[in-house]
Amino acid sequence: MTEYMQIFLGTSFSSKSPKEIQILKDHLYCINTDGMIEKIVSPEEPDYQTLLATYQDQDNFHRLAEGQYFLPGFIDLHVHAPQWAQSGTALDIPLYDWLNTYTFPLESKFSDLDFAKKVYSDVVDTLLANGTTTALYFATVHKEASLLLAQICADKGQRGLVGKVVMDDPQGNPENYRDTDTDTALKDTEEFILAVKELAKSTKQGVYPVVTPRFIPSCTNEALQGLGDLAAKYDTHIQSHCSESDWAHGYVQERFQKNDAFALHDFGLLRDKSVMAHCNFLEEEDVELFAETGTAIAHCPISNAYFANSVIPIAHFHSKGVEIGLGSDISGGFSPSLFDNIRQAVMSSRMLEDGVNPSLPAQERGLLGSRIKIDEAFYLATAGGGKSLSLPIGRILEGYTWDVQIIDTKLPSARLPIFDGNEDLEDVFQKMMYLARPENIREVWVQGEKVHSR
Ligand code: GUN
Ligand code: FE
Repeated sequence: MTEYMQIFLGTSFSSKSPKEIQILKDHLYCINTDGMIEKIVSPEEPDYQTLLATYQDQDNFHRLAEGQYFLPGFIDLHVHAPQWAQSGTALDIPLYDWLNTYTFPLESKFSDLDFAKKVYSDVVDTLLANGTTTALYFATVHKEASLLLAQICADKGQRGLVGKVVMDDPQGNPENYRDTDTDTALKDTEEFILAVKELAKSTKQGVYPVVTPRFIPSCTNEALQGLGDLAAKYDTHIQSHCSESDWAHGYVQERFQKNDAFALHDFGLLRDKSVMAHCNFLEEEDVELFAETGTAIAHCPISNAYFANSVIPIAHFHSKGVEIGLGSDISGGFSPSLFDNIRQAVMSSRMLEDGVNPSLPAQERGLLGSRIKIDEAFYLATAGGGKSLSLPIGRILEGYTWDVQIIDTKLPSARLPIFDGNEDLEDVFQKMMYLARPENIREVWVQGEKVHSR
């Protein structure tokens, strides 16, 4: 019989599609030495009893207690690691002022590696404790500190995709917080890519370099083109902000007489491994371009409520074949929890559908067909994020990584309202989605390794 590294026994919930949750009751999950799910066995299969007999007394056998469930680890598709230091503050002014008043001055401090280490260690620990097993990070313009973030993800076992941020335009950025010049920005990016690829070799879960023009207003045309070329040369992921606020969207229109999507595409920045944050002002042809190029959207529902006063039409974008995941956008979004973002995604979509102005007739208030269910928001935070990154993550399925969070619904200090031992599992799932807190996340595993427990 095959030797497995770990065997888990319990009930799991994972997305089959945006609208379908797969529930595997009391299944066995057999994890190989690479940390991948090699086999999932149902209680009806003959192997089940054999596996149970072989493994149940061994140290690598893990049986969930009553009231505990497996969920896939969350995938945060958009998070600014340095901004963790100001999370929960400074959200009362528009994006442009927020960047210049609070955010650029904070990020400039990451030239100090001691400060960077403090903040980066804490944000990685915090995200893991919130069930986030994979995160697509913006760091800062500093090459060394960005590398330190990748190293911290590597050490703590999180699958970090990390970008050294490029901001080379002297016109678009403050004097004390930008790349020295375009050539240096590109050279630093290339060195960063090579260093992270080297670092990745010593990790089990992988860490990845990401080509990261902050957004068009921060970058010269030469930098944007150079970054598109680097992404193609090294086949890396790409991330940026796209059509986020009125101001940013209008700026690009004025500079290029086109929307962000087409401007980014001209520089080779829309490809299968691209993830664009926000995308509040996409027009129909932008949406089609995303679908054609395989570019994914990082939906940031909390942040969008503050900076964009906007809700993107998830259901419509899905119907057009665009991949979408969920982003916390720390600290434009205040919460490190994708549970909070799942909840906001659902609430925002309902406001988009139903409108919020009660003085208008119902049919004229909102955008019909926009509401999404909690199942679809969960998909964004898990399977949708995995698809967006073109990695086998975000589902509990053979061939996927064992990246899971174990939710305890019976923790004495944080019990969920489940009173019937035979409660319908779909209801249990919804209660976890709406009511779970970090306390309920008892263990977090990445690539078959335990990376957090409480
Ligand atoms: N646009 C450019 N930079 C940023 C940032 O740090 N946060 C958000 N939300 N939008 C941006
Ligand atoms: Fe952002």
